[in-house]
Amino acid sequence: MAYISTLSKLALLGGKPIRTRPFPAYPVIGEEEKRAVMEVLDSGQLSTFSASRQGFLGGRKIQAFEAAFAEYHGIRHAIAVNSATSGLHAAVAACEVGPGDEVIVPPYTFTATATAVLHHNAIPVFVDVDPVTFCMDPAQLEKAITPRTKAVIPVHLLGHPADMDAILAIARRHHLKVIEDCAQAPGARYKGRLVGTMGDCGVFSFQETKNMATGEGGMVITNDPDLAERARMIRNHGEAVIAGEPRKYLTSTIGWNYRMTEIEAAIGIVQLKKLNTLNRERHELAAYLLDAMPDNPGLTYPLESPQIDHVYHVFGMNYDETKTGPSRARFIEALLAEGIPVGPGYPRPLYHNPLFQERLAYGKQGCPFTCHLYGGAVSYAKGLCPVAEALCAQSALWTFVVRPPATIRDMQDIVTAFEKVWEHSSALTKENNHEAAIG
Ligand SMILES: Cc1ncc(COP(=O)(O)O)c(C=O)c1O
Repeated sequence: MAYISTLSKLALLGGKPIRTRPFPAYPVIGEEEKRAVMEVLDSGQLSTFSASRQGFLGGRKIQAFEAAFAEYHGIRHAIAVNSATSGLHAAVAACEVGPGDEVIVPPYTFTATATAVLHHNAIPVFVDVDPVTFCMDPAQLEKAITPRTKAVIPVHLLGHPADMDAILAIARRHHLKVIEDCAQAPGARYKGRLVGTMGDCGVFSFQETKNMATGEGGMVITNDPDLAERARMIRNHGEAVIAGEPRKYLTSTIGWNYRMTEIEAAIGIVQLKKLNTLNRERHELAAYLLDAMPDNPGLTYPLESPQIDHVYHVFGMNYDETKTGPSRARFIEALLAEGIPVGPGYPRPLYHNPLFQERLAYGKQGCPFTCHLYGGAVSYAKGLCPVAEALCAQSALWTFVVRPPATIRDMQDIVTAFEKVWEHSSALTKENNHEAAIG
């Protein structure tokens, strides 16, 4: 472990920071991605969704990306879309969730997990998360099921797989569809199985911060041919184009334009080839931190149970100020001053947002919550999911920089800064007390 002089003052209190250089930029884009993009630009075929059945299935790169993604997952169908948000919505619709149906989601996730449900005029019902994995707590799931429940969306959050065996057992017992939100976890495994392959379908994001990145983009995967065909139609204006027949402009379901471009698909093909390596590098950096971070009774590091392969989209810690002294906000401020990008993660559980508190989805009359097709009584009351509320309000501590091209040398700075701030935490606590006295 690095030695920190007891004399070195915290940067927050006027001392020298551990690090002034920024952490290396992400994503990792190499010559192969650049060549792949140029090839598409030179071909002049930028989208190529068109009137024929072939065109309905997307351009050459899209179809190649879908085939490679399906093969990587050992699954029959992959449908490329322009984001995970559109993929989640397409999945909700393709699972035939209807207006007023309830869909169970965790509240400790990105907005899109829940808004994809609202996009289809269905009602998100929030179920609390596990304090260690940050993923949906199966023990809470069954209690939230009502006769209106049609589906559940477990999220593999921060790269850690949700407890799928328990979730699937409950879902199957109640005939619920399972849509895995894999936006933060491509390549993660639960008991040897890749995320996205266990439920009825899985949805991925390739937005630029994700473990594989195409700028924007997403993918829906499934073994169900009907679900796949519905998702393809939803992606393309709801228009069905039948092989061997001319286009009839026949719109047989509501659809959107959720199509990916050839440029994104070309980058995706290259990034997918690198995914295992990129994830392994994340894992090595995380393993270094798990070994070298200071023992601190108030800090819990990510859990690596032997049943899972974590892909560390985020290195997520738990902070307990009753054991550390300084508040989480003060601890973060001190680390930021030392040049280490850390943050508190999601600021509030999703249902604390005005969207849910004031029911502001469609129009001003509370639709879809007040829709006569619903008639249920979903609760978004404060206190609904105490674990998620505590993670947001006081305990989660995240850093995004545990990823390539960062190296062990970069991780050493993180360790040194945590050691330094930990060693000087009484100075921060005094500051807290001072603030409290004058506040
Ligand atoms: C858990 C989760 N679901 C869905 C999304 C939406 O992904 P996209 O930005 O590709 O729409 C994100 C993106 O941050 C996410 O983290």
